[in-house]
Amino acid sequence: MTSEAAITVKGLRKSYGKNQVLRGVDLTVKRGTMLAILGPNGAGKTTTVRIMSTLLGFDAGTVTIEGHDVALSPDKVRAVIGLTGQSAAVDEILTGRENLIMMGQLYRLTKRSATLRADELLEQFDLVDAGKRSVKTYSGGMRRRLDLAVSLIATPPIIFLDEPTTGLDPRSRIAMWDIINRLKADGKTILLTTQYLEEADQLADNIVVIDGGKVIAEGTAKQLKAKVGKDRLELTFKKLTEFRAGERALGKLVVDSNKKELTVTLIINDTNKDVAQALAILTKEKVSISSMAIHKPTLDDVFLSLTGKSNQKGGKL
Ligand SMILES: Nc1ncnc2c1ncn2[C@@H]1O[C@H](COP(=O)(O)OP(=O)(O)O)[C@@H](O)[C@H]1O
Ligand SMILES: [Mg+2]
Repeated sequence: MTSEAAITVKGLRKSYGKNQVLRGVDLTVKRGTMLAILGPNGAGKTTTVRIMSTLLGFDAGTVTIEGHDVALSPDKVRAVIGLTGQSAAVDEILTGRENLIMMGQLYRLTKRSATLRADELLEQFDLVDAGKRSVKTYSGGMRRRLDLAVSLIATPPIIFLDEPTTGLDPRSRIAMWDIINRLKADGKTILLTTQYLEEADQLADNIVVIDGGKVIAEGTAKQLKAKVGKDRLELTFKKLTEFRAGERALGKLVVDSNKKELTVTLIINDTNKDVAQALAILTKEKVSISSMAIHKPTLDDVFLSLTGKSNQKGGKL
């Protein structure tokens, strides 16, 4: 492997009948990094992941995983990837541990090696106690963690996580983030899809935003946020007279004001200097504020400015 890229997708197209689901998707994932494909429901995330993991054919383009073309050498691709979201692989009646051992044996590990690997994964995924119980008793979060553990039985260097935390409660989501971060620390190459801006922001090295089967933006979370704008300072006044006086005193610095909320918004370039300047003006005019806050652009702002619509799931937990 001489190339830095573990995953390369070029000009990927896929239609279902007349419905063009992927309209020329390009993306690259460097070895040992995490890329998040961020997009709303129906954007084409699962379709892309299924194609990359050899489960689905496509109409045009190329997909290369660790140097193997998915169309030409699907077996070689399968040998280097782990895919979650295939709950079908888990037997509800068996315990978590039995499932892992069985899966290990399917991957031709000896019973002994499969058992060792199963216990290692149960430990790693906080499932040691749960591992003794039948899978049908598992909570949603435990079930997701087992799915992920099953996909890692053969220690693949590349992991696909298709919406690993959708529908989980905040605590289970954070437990999953923790596990994903540990996989990253282990040097795995990870491709994650998500509808949650916060998740892409927290976890990924790079983000590709897709909508309607096309990449509409890419970069680090920081780069994407820098695209939509500067930090904003929001000042809230105690009463309407103060709000009016403050608005007047700050004059051209005000880019937005809200009479009902008694707030004015200023754009800031240099945080210390601009905040000090605004406060100095108000102090000089004897106008008091009740609170102030600095807002940095969020990925939600990015999404809104790129697509003209807010991501329905939002960025907040
Ligand atoms: N098997 C299928 N047959 C027909 N249309 C499909 C099929 N699978 C997905 N689609 C359509 O493809 C589009 C993208 O779906 P998908 O890749 O599942 O999006 P996402 O995972 O981002 O929510 C949707 O419009 C969906 O209805
Ligand atoms: Mg999906």
